[in-house]
Amino acid sequence: MHSAPNHDLCDLVEKKCCRVVSCADIATIAAHDSIFLSGRPEYDVPLGRRDELASASVNETTKNLPSPAQSASQILAALAKKSFDATNVVTLSGAHTIGLGHCGSFTDRLYPTPDPAMEKSFARAYQYEDPTTRDIVTSFAKDLELFFERFVLAMTKMGQLGLLTGTKGEIQARCSARNS
Ligand code: HEM
Repeated sequence: MHSAPNHDLCDLVEKKCCRVVSCADIATIAAHDSIFLSGRPEYDVPLGRRDELASASVNETTKNLPSPAQSASQILAALAKKSFDATNVVTLSGAHTIGLGHCGSFTDRLYPTPDPAMEKSFARAYQYEDPTTRDIVTSFAKDLELFFERFVLAMTKMGQLGLLTGTKGEIQARCSARNS
């Protein structure tokens, strides 16, 4: 394993098999492999995605992602529109035992006055503010296998959001640019 940026990986795949594997599939496999390598569950990744004809804009991407400033209930409502239930959302949020949080995303909840909605014990802070998510978090805290099982379901579901298959879209030759 080496730390090649994603576009280098796409270039290597493209050299081996021109216009066969989409960038959407490569990104999904990369997410799966990162999860597996960090000690989380192994799961099958359905493949066959095709790439959008239009390149993804920052606006289009951020419109679809909940912001760090949103409350649990706002995130639940936003993702319910994409048919994710509370268990899916809590499970996917549980992925953040890997990765980083940036100070700018949460310092305003700590200074100058701590947000009263935040539990004093920071370990439990975020999810415990919302009763719907609290029970799900507790059930996962008690049963790691249950969390892994739900995680695989939620990841697979997320990997199938807004899919392009068949003759829709295209297989991009380079993940950083549209085909000319
Ligand atoms: C409900 C679904 C999810 C939401 C709402 C969400 C939201 C966020 C937000 C707002 C951040 C930025 C935090 C910050 O900059 O302070 C973040 C970071 C991150 N998330 Fe998620 N996430 C979700 C699911 C996932 C999943 C399923 C994974 C991995 C399998 C994941 C992996 C990461 C990683 C690695 C980072 C750190 C990125 C970095 O280092 O800059 N997230 N997430």
